[in-house]
Amino acid sequence: MIQNSDLFALSYLVATVLFILGLKGLSSPKTALRGNLLSMVGMGIALVATLLNPQVTTYGWIIAGLSLGALIGIVLAIRIDMKSMPQLVAALHSFVGLSAVLVAAGTFLLHRESGELNGVLLAEIAVGSFIGAITFTGSLIAFGKLQELLSSNPLVFKGQHYLNAFLAVVMFALAAVFVSNQDFTLFLLMTAIALVLGFLLVLPIGGADMPVIVSMLNSYSGWAASATGFTLGNTLLISTGALVGSSGAILSYIMCKAMNRSIFSVVLGGFGGEAAAASGDDSKAKKGVKSASVEDLAFMLENAQKAVIVPGYGMAVAQAQHAIKEVVEVLTQKGVDVKFAIHPVAGRMPGHMNVLLAEADIPYDIVHEMEDINTDFSSTDVVFVIGANDVINPAAKTDKSSPLYGMPILDAYTAKHVFVSKRSMKAGYAGVDNELFYYDNCSLVFGDAKGTCEQLVRALKNA
Ligand code: TAP
Repeated sequence: MIQNSDLFALSYLVATVLFILGLKGLSSPKTALRGNLLSMVGMGIALVATLLNPQVTTYGWIIAGLSLGALIGIVLAIRIDMKSMPQLVAALHSFVGLSAVLVAAGTFLLHRESGELNGVLLAEIAVGSFIGAITFTGSLIAFGKLQELLSSNPLVFKGQHYLNAFLAVVMFALAAVFVSNQDFTLFLLMTAIALVLGFLLVLPIGGADMPVIVSMLNSYSGWAASATGFTLGNTLLISTGALVGSSGAILSYIMCKAMNRSIFSVVLGGFGGEAAAASGDDSKAKKGVKSASVEDLAFMLENAQKAVIVPGYGMAVAQAQHAIKEVVEVLTQKGVDVKFAIHPVAGRMPGHMNVLLAEADIPYDIVHEMEDINTDFSSTDVVFVIGANDVINPAAKTDKSSPLYGMPILDAYTAKHVFVSKRSMKAGYAGVDNELFYYDNCSLVFGDAKGTCEQLVRALKNA
């Protein structure tokens, strides 16, 4: 006969499988919607199973927490605009971190009263708390930087890495002593040091390394949840946390590879940001750039055989994705072969450009990732860059002093003609001037990207 506990375990297993299938679905824009739906069903099953668990005896606090969380979630989801997603993600990671700390403290106090503490549980409590604390303050700093409440430049000082290493050693030592003598003061001290460490690890990260740290914090929040799962004896939390932890770590690795950064530098804090602090050389800004009108751009595009569009953060700011879709439709009708080239860190979050292009119903088969399209640029007649900057900066290949040096870029500069839609001569996210703008084959089309694309559609239709 099937017991309640079997049903409970089975529900958690089904939920975990749905989460795994959901993650798999998220790996491609074509299957992302299905992936999201599967994960939502999994979360629904997990919630119902947890609420029906016989260990849950009262519902008052649970309903209050769920209602408050749902309210905050709904308001945030409605209000947040796409370009603020990374800071929202960072803020949500901080909640996971904080709850891991609170669950660890609560579990300790509860089990101390009932005299049920043992070495394994104490170790789980310590690990859950310090990972949670690092995630909490690290995510707060990441939020502050992305929201521009704090400077996005790396904050570095002498001896920083030694201080971090020293604090980490003290934190582990306190954790070890806490496990052996169960002194709550040591737990609090250990957690306080972890909170400081979270600040110190993220403060020195800046410029182009921020996306990696957001993904790394995503991973930390998963491990914090997993550690909480051990503390609470909840298998679903263990497996879900491990899924988040490992997928965040894999994403960080992929992003580090895309930006040519060492993952250890990012985890240890600061090594990746040093070069960015040296940015701001404006010597090249004094050179001349060529500007072009929308009509010039329309003429070049309609006479091209092959055109590649490179979207970047500016397309998200301008919300130009729908207008660019019309550009693609008109050009395709005129027989131009049009493709999109997507850099892995274009925009402000992984997949940012793919999401916007999918929102505008741009067919997936003309959207290409960097490694698939980079060799095409040299045989391309016209590259149209919409609000991208750092991801096409040739200094990443040539200028060792540039904070972008070593980051693979889209080789737009090798095309016959490059037109860049931007509003001013301002730098991109990494704060450095773009050499490409001074190349002979490059012209700048000044103005808001959406307005430029709308004008372009009219010019192409009238031609
Ligand atoms: P950026 O280098 O940030 O450049 C954006 C460009 O868009 C700027 O040149 C800006 O120039 C232009 N722009 C802004 N608003 C515009 C508008 N309304 N109309 C037209 N142009 C507009 O963008 P990117 O090339 O996509 O590179 C992304 C950068 O962000 C990289 O450094 C990356 O490391 C970093 N980053 C990425 C992520 C992820 S995971 N994708 C997360 C955080 C940070 P004007 O101001 O002159 O218009």
